[in-house]
Amino acid sequence: MFATRPEIRPATVEVLVDGQPCRVPEGASAAAALLLAGLPASRETPVSGAPRLPYCMMGVCFDCLAKIDGVANRQACMVTVRPGMRIAPQRGARMAGVA
Ligand code: FES
Repeated sequence: MFATRPEIRPATVEVLVDGQPCRVPEGASAAAALLLAGLPASRETPVSGAPRLPYCMMGVCFDCLAKIDGVANRQACMVTVRPGMRIAPQRGARMAGVA
């Protein structure tokens, strides 16, 4: 219903989402890449382990916390993709002093 017209599709960049190559539109957020990759969850809550996916896409809900280029606790919706970026789901709480 909301498909982009083929003649105006933006250029794409390739990123790695949970180790798998994924092409996303240039200028998209890392959270968009997580959603496009089709993962069942992009993080688990530290207390109950409940699965989460990016929700608000504007830096409010923190459900998009992910490990980006080895750095945990990044708000993926606030990070623009670049070629070769490594985006991984965040499992549990970030370890103090460990990326
Ligand atoms: S999706 Fe809500 S803060 Fe990123």
